[in-house]
Amino acid sequence: MASTEHAPVQPNSREAVFMLIKEGKGPNGQGVAGTYDNWSKYDEDHNDYNGPSFVVSALSELTNRKDVSILDCGSGTGLIGEKLKSEGFTNISALDASQESLKLAAKKGVYKKLSCVEVGKKKMPFDDNEFDVLVASGCVLPTHISPDALREWVSIVKPGGFILFSIRRVFLELIEGEETYYSKEFVEHLNQVLEELEKTKKAEVIFKRDCPNYLCGWHSYLYGIKVVQ
Ligand SMILES: C[S@@+](CC[C@H](N)C(=O)[O-])C[C@H]1O[C@@H](n2cnc3c(N)ncnc32)[C@H](O)[C@@H]1O
Repeated sequence: MASTEHAPVQPNSREAVFMLIKEGKGPNGQGVAGTYDNWSKYDEDHNDYNGPSFVVSALSELTNRKDVSILDCGSGTGLIGEKLKSEGFTNISALDASQESLKLAAKKGVYKKLSCVEVGKKKMPFDDNEFDVLVASGCVLPTHISPDALREWVSIVKPGGFILFSIRRVFLELIEGEETYYSKEFVEHLNQVLEELEKTKKAEVIFKRDCPNYLCGWHSYLYGIKVVQ
């Protein structure tokens, strides 16, 4: 007799992250750090990942300097850092909540400093105006990094510097068949923080770019923010 039960979610997989996003906990009840700690084959599961090219080409449009200090926030295993380095950027640091992901990132030899911090739980270990640029690919989303982090990011990036962050379209728009990922609350929260930063003249949204096939054929939006003060 065919079973109607679903196969259990493998804890070391993309499905585990989807479960975290939808249910607030990973398959073994872990939070965000534990869920990514278990995903040891993250790089192998990202053969179809064009995010690094989108992020790095957007950054190259904004600056000619290769020595800008860059924080890769939510760096994971370092795929963005690797692409930055291959395009000549030389001054890159990483921060992530998952110690196991950071161990994989460290092996790539692209980051000068790696910090294990869960954004939102603990203050980030950086001074005001420490970085020229902050990039965050695929980590501002429900259960991951809250839009509230933008306020802290604006303070650690120098005036005139840039923040680039990407969000999968399913989190921001109702898309047939993918309704479970959409969160009206999350969208309103993100827009409210962005409006507040613009109104208080701390930052300016310079673009929101549609990036088709960011990952696995899925669209993402890449936001470009210029820090004003
Ligand atoms: C989808 S992965 C993206 C990793 C990397 N940026 C990339 O492009 O491959 C999301 C990453 O964000 C990290 N993350 C999620 N929430 C976080 C938080 N609150 N603080 C720090 N890192 C977080 C996870 O540990 C994970 O490594």
